[in-house]
Amino acid sequence: MASEKWTVAVFLLQLCCVGSGFCGKVLVWPCDMSHWLNLKTILEELVQRGHEVTVLKFPSIIVNQIENSALNFENVPLLDGNETPEKFLNYFLHLAVNVIPRLSVWQAAKMFQDLFIQFTANFEELCRSALYNQTFMNKLRDAKYDVMVIDPVVPCGELVAEVLQVPFVNTLRFSMGFTIEKYCGQLPVPLSYVPVTMGELSDHMTFPERVKNIMLSLFFEFGPQQYDFAFWDQFYSETLGRPTTFCETIGKAEIWLIRTYWDFEFPRPYLPNFEFVGGLHCKPAKPLPKEMEEFVQSSGEHGVVVFSLGSMVKNLTEDKANLIASALAQIPQKVMWRYSGKKPATLGSNTRLFNWIPQNDLLGHPKTKAFITHGGTNGIYEAIYHGIPMVGVPIFADQPDNIAHMKAKGAALKVNFNTMTSADLHSALRAVINEPS
Ligand SMILES: *[C@@H]1O[C@H](CO)[C@@H](O)[C@H](O)[C@H]1NC(C)=O
Ligand SMILES: *[C@@H]1O[C@H](CO)[C@@H](O)[C@H](O)[C@H]1NC(C)=O
Repeated sequence: MASEKWTVAVFLLQLCCVGSGFCGKVLVWPCDMSHWLNLKTILEELVQRGHEVTVLKFPSIIVNQIENSALNFENVPLLDGNETPEKFLNYFLHLAVNVIPRLSVWQAAKMFQDLFIQFTANFEELCRSALYNQTFMNKLRDAKYDVMVIDPVVPCGELVAEVLQVPFVNTLRFSMGFTIEKYCGQLPVPLSYVPVTMGELSDHMTFPERVKNIMLSLFFEFGPQQYDFAFWDQFYSETLGRPTTFCETIGKAEIWLIRTYWDFEFPRPYLPNFEFVGGLHCKPAKPLPKEMEEFVQSSGEHGVVVFSLGSMVKNLTEDKANLIASALAQIPQKVMWRYSGKKPATLGSNTRLFNWIPQNDLLGHPKTKAFITHGGTNGIYEAIYHGIPMVGVPIFADQPDNIAHMKAKGAALKVNFNTMTSADLHSALRAVINEPS
């Protein structure tokens, strides 16, 4: 199945450059963090298969970190080079961890969207730096790229493609309320059985849930937007010198690569140019470092529990950490907890803290019984791949919705990060370990 997905993804990327003889040259407009981790897998495979891949580099946290990879990088010459992506990320994390969780789904969605709007000024600067620098654009034009791969979370990639007259592929997990897929990609979203993202609903909705789904859809339609459409419509029109819209431009994508798959999605209508490529980063486990392997083996027949809240959340409040640690101390399993905050006072002798864990290798270990996760798509896919049940402790963004999907599929239980007690976490853990579903 996995190789089938690969064939589709790579084949589709190749299709776009048929006719240029040897294909091809790929230009990438990326987005940071988990988006990049995911896209990188596809790009590296393209390089493996003889394609030339160039990634446009702008201030980011992890897109910069792989200097000696087989990918080429091309700096976007920023007009104001003083950007600090860490500052934005920290601000985002503060809101996500400390503010948003106390809000209702509506307020949270609004805040999340407001955040994107606040980024508009930065995105505009990036766009101007690239598109209005003739030297830079000529350089890209002269390189004669065959196709662009674009993460539309950062606007303008599709505008660069339009100006260069290069066909492009969108890579996307989802847009708020599916507005981009629906209005720009013409994807049908029948609200009676397609749950709008962020609502934590499944495809089997009760009447009140369907009402909620419709309200949520209207909210995303008329409420605050992920993009400042009015601004971008004007920007795109000015740049192209003819009236156009952001949506019209992004809708010209040849293919939409969606970072999920049927094991995650509910049945729903799709279009032939929407391809599902979730889980491509999954791979078999490698052996663990010696010390870790010894710890895992010391768990005996009970096995181990792997616990990570992802790469973005590094520490918790003391109360929260103590509450979690005391729940973990009550289970017979050994626990490997990725946590770099202060050591909680209630930490049990069965629990060990790590600054970093080889998550995929641990999830693929035969002794692993359960995975406590914040519910990021990448981690969820590793757990699905290795068949490990999950306790979801979602915190922000798409995480609650991701866990709702896993819950509906019988692969996870959810614990509320804000209101949970030690007993809640403990009983959820016992259930996923002892009651196979
Ligand atoms: C335009 O791009 C070129 C090539 O990338 C760069 O050397 C130059 O500094 C840029 N000009 C401005 C005004 O940023
Ligand atoms: C996490 O750690 C940083 C730096 O060590 C600290 O400033 C921050 O307040 C901590 N956050 C929480 C929630 O404890």
